[in-house]
Amino acid sequence: MYYPDELIEEVRTKNDIVDVISGYVRIQKKGSNYMGLCPFHNEKSPSFSVSGSKQIYHCFGCGAGGNVFTFLMNYENYTFQEAIKELADRSGVTLPEIENSAQAKKEADKKAVLLEINKEAAKYFYYQLRQEQGKIGYRYLSGRELSEETIKKFGLGFANKTSNDLTLYLKKKGYTDEQIIQAGLATADERYGVHDKFWNRVIFPIMDINHRAIGFGGRVMGEGTPKYLNSPETPVFDKSRNLYGLNFARTARKNNMILCEGYMDVIALHQAGFTQAVASLGTAFTPGQANLLRRYAENILLSYDSDGAGTNAALRAISILREAGLTAKIIDLKPYKDPDEFIKNLGAEAFQERIDSAENSFMFEVRILEQQFDLHDPEGKTKFHREIAKKLCQFSEEVERDNYTQAVADRYLIGYENLRKLIHSYAAKTGLAKPIERPKSGVVQKNRPEENIRKNQRLLITWLTEEPHLYNKIKAYLSAADFTDELYGKVAIQLFDRLGKEGFSPAGIISLFQEESEQREVAELFDTKLEMLATPQEKEKAFKDVLIKVKENSLEYYSGRLGSDVTAINQVIEGKIALENLKKTHISLQV
Ligand code: UTP
Ligand code: MN
Repeated sequence: MYYPDELIEEVRTKNDIVDVISGYVRIQKKGSNYMGLCPFHNEKSPSFSVSGSKQIYHCFGCGAGGNVFTFLMNYENYTFQEAIKELADRSGVTLPEIENSAQAKKEADKKAVLLEINKEAAKYFYYQLRQEQGKIGYRYLSGRELSEETIKKFGLGFANKTSNDLTLYLKKKGYTDEQIIQAGLATADERYGVHDKFWNRVIFPIMDINHRAIGFGGRVMGEGTPKYLNSPETPVFDKSRNLYGLNFARTARKNNMILCEGYMDVIALHQAGFTQAVASLGTAFTPGQANLLRRYAENILLSYDSDGAGTNAALRAISILREAGLTAKIIDLKPYKDPDEFIKNLGAEAFQERIDSAENSFMFEVRILEQQFDLHDPEGKTKFHREIAKKLCQFSEEVERDNYTQAVADRYLIGYENLRKLIHSYAAKTGLAKPIERPKSGVVQKNRPEENIRKNQRLLITWLTEEPHLYNKIKAYLSAADFTDELYGKVAIQLFDRLGKEGFSPAGIISLFQEESEQREVAELFDTKLEMLATPQEKEKAFKDVLIKVKENSLEYYSGRLGSDVTAINQVIEGKIALENLKKTHISLQV
């Protein structure tokens, strides 16, 4: 963290959230909160609420939320540091020069220089595209039916045929050979010295979510190889943690994201109105990228090439997405090769139809599996059915497994009961899959058992935030470790430390998290909808129920970790005692 916590807190408390948000959104007082139309998704009736007492905002529609810093990060696309600066200015707080260790400062400086170089290079490429020598590039892009507006939006450019003009240009701007090489824009060899990495290519700048150029992709003019050349990884370009197009897609406000293979696919989709399209960066899709997607959507539509390579890439992406707890569907592009070609030939409406009829990823996998077997041969057919049964064992929840069993039985004309028996015999041998563990928080399907657990943890935290006096009554039974979600656990530590102290505000805890997506989740924790319960007795019962559920889950969680986690044994012993006592005790909600 760059600024000291106290200073961040000072800036926050001097900027009343109701004041700040009123400058952007029309909000009206409703009960103890202010309500308005959410600026982060399209809606007709207000579900965006701002709480003056908690100093947080939260949208019950799209889940956006946070404190005053999060709001600016979301609305203005600021980083956390930028939001702090803006609000410090607004309230007349002077911020010190950022204090950093010498090493951290050097690293930060180095990154800043690389970003500067990238920015200069992006501007240079962009300019070249509009010069005489860049005409070939411009013609190529228009030939692929990109509009001037699209070319601008994505900052497309051109690297000239000469082999070192960018390097010379950057050196004139004062950067050294070493820096330019480190930015991945030049290479050095004995024969040619230091020379440009990209030449004779149209250039696709790769932006981070704050629209800063962090790398480049270049497509060769004509038939040269490689067809696409990409920047190497650099201190500012981590390919496994960025996605092409995410800077626009993150604010698309659709309930899904479209994942495709190439730069042109993303651009063609955006131009056709599918602004939720992203692609991995000339490398295979990674778990890091899946986690990134998880912040913005839980449904991912795969739009990979319809050829063999594309299908294999899709199969790999499906399992990575599944691991990350995301739902995947596959868009059928046939008879076309990729989304770019599809849209050119059939248009946006037809593509939307394909989105609407996208295939469930499990059914897609089974369909691909089927191709390995000769179904006319009883032997091949049996093997295929066995493989299906094995695959169905991955669903640990009975209802889900049953629904898939039914669907597969229907599609492949297998007797449902036979298939079920087959599954059970495999399950008996190998055991059903354990539910996927997902220590990091994120958007997950709402009806999963683990989501219920997290919901109870959220309810308890919100409840304690709203009625801090309750903490003293239950602290003998509860510890931060009972919040088994990693992020919730971190919040609980901070919360329990501050509850009951003078001037406590949940909004201050939000600032301890730098990432906007984390801040959003923390805010949700403090603002979970508590049911309106009529009588004090009902309230008492509900509170105790939630507490017991959280404790029971914690006990189960640590019981499963005996042997792998040294703190588990204590948690289990204490948990058992606490639960027993809790069940005997009456907890009054009176102050
Ligand atoms: P494709 O070969 O399918 O490219 O590779 P494309 O986008 O359809 O190319 P066009 O339409 O002929 O221009 C898909 C993606 O894989 C990466 C690029 O990101 C490309 O967009 N790729 C491909 C490379 O990084 N290097 C290559 O040599 C080829
Ligand atoms: Mn293509």
